[in-house]
Amino acid sequence: MAAEKGMDGEMVRLDRAHVWHPFTPFSTWMDEGYEPTVIVRGRGSRLFDVEGREYLDGNSSIWVNLHGHCNAQIDRAIRAQLKRIAHSSFLGLTNEVAPMLAARLLEYARPQGQHGTDGGGFERVFFSDDGSTAVEAAIKVVYQAFQMTGQQERTQFVSLGRGYHGDTVGAMSVGHSAVFHGAYRGLMFSSGEAMSPACYRCPFNRAAPERADARTTRRCGFECVGQFAQRVEEAGGRFAGAVLEPVVQGAAGMVMHPEGYLSKVADIVHDAGGKLILDEVMTGFHRTGRAMAFHAESCQPDVVALAKGLTGGYLPLAATLVKADLVEAFMGGPERTFYHGHSYSGNQLGCAAALANLDLLEAPGFGAKLERLIARLGRAGQRFWAHPHVGDVRQQGMILAVELVEDWRSRKPFAPEKRLGWRVSEAAKKHGLLTRPAGDVLILMPPLSTSAADVERMVEACYRALCDVLPVSAGV
Ligand SMILES: Cc1ncc(COP(=O)(O)O)c(C=O)c1O
Repeated sequence: MAAEKGMDGEMVRLDRAHVWHPFTPFSTWMDEGYEPTVIVRGRGSRLFDVEGREYLDGNSSIWVNLHGHCNAQIDRAIRAQLKRIAHSSFLGLTNEVAPMLAARLLEYARPQGQHGTDGGGFERVFFSDDGSTAVEAAIKVVYQAFQMTGQQERTQFVSLGRGYHGDTVGAMSVGHSAVFHGAYRGLMFSSGEAMSPACYRCPFNRAAPERADARTTRRCGFECVGQFAQRVEEAGGRFAGAVLEPVVQGAAGMVMHPEGYLSKVADIVHDAGGKLILDEVMTGFHRTGRAMAFHAESCQPDVVALAKGLTGGYLPLAATLVKADLVEAFMGGPERTFYHGHSYSGNQLGCAAALANLDLLEAPGFGAKLERLIARLGRAGQRFWAHPHVGDVRQQGMILAVELVEDWRSRKPFAPEKRLGWRVSEAAKKHGLLTRPAGDVLILMPPLSTSAADVERMVEACYRALCDVLPVSAGV
């Protein structure tokens, strides 16, 4: 361990000297008083740092890991693939894994009730590298399809307030996050912003705050749907389509939509002749309890973007699933080519990991076990209501979100500069939990393979960290 400890110091020195971390202020990272955590290995839902400290992976390593670290089945699949080839170009060539994965994905994501038929299903898969590129490809497919089918005026997208779809310029342009995108406004194309259906923060929700998920107590007339329709109407004949995170908006603060919202807006999009692009980058692969989050509602997306959990959280691979009529627009000569691609498209190692991931997700008994775990997370999460600075506790599948507020009776938020969410997550490390908040929303998002006991431990560690930062001096 002593040798590893020395390595820790050297790693941190090299890191601080040469590395640039995503979404990480230099002021924090370079602060001599801040001790970066150096992860050296993982097993199941646990991560271990160079000092030998053990942590529960409370956010599935930024929402990607599904079956734990060092999962034997995925490890085996990657090793077997490695013996044959790691990567060869997918431009004008194919390989022996990506086509198989494409066929499996089309079936796995098919709108529910459509197995064995072609109605409403997806036809083709475009492979890229990560969530941003999966969304970028989706936008360009829809845009180009309209350009090539005599509807050149359809160039305008509508998307949700506080939405986050990645950091490439196109993905940013359909996002509406002041924090993430504010600095790049001048680079982005415009898109219509429809209000986020965030019941807890909704100006149309007439229900007084209660110690219950705001979606279940809301009193409103689904004004969010009306606002969405208004944005589509404003786009008029220029409306190309909508881009949204179905059911849960992740980076917005795990905003969970009221039941029925998705199917209502899907109808609005299609009635206006637009295409529905669903960003399932975070919600896909059983994260919300279903294969795809959109399976919860009657809804037929035209394009679905997948990444994060696609390889079980092992390798960067993404997929954009596209319905037949859009694909049809690209059929023909070179002038109809989709001029978009990535060097690592169809990467064999990633595809082998993704096939093993689907095997695990489709194994007998997986769904029932997951349901039990989801119920356990929900029960354990109820304890957060005991804390007076918790305003909302919401859960969707294996996502638990806890919104911190200064005053739960008025839903008054804390001043952002207090960075309470971040401080609680930092305090959680001392209790053996790694996670990352979205603003003042604490997030627990365990790998789907986590044991019930470890789910309870994660909740306990998070609650104790919350009490460290915001001691409970008075009852609710
Ligand atoms: C819903 C959603 N879309 C897209 C992305 C971007 O994915 P990536 O970071 O893999 O580019 C993210 C990342 O958090 C996301 O949550």
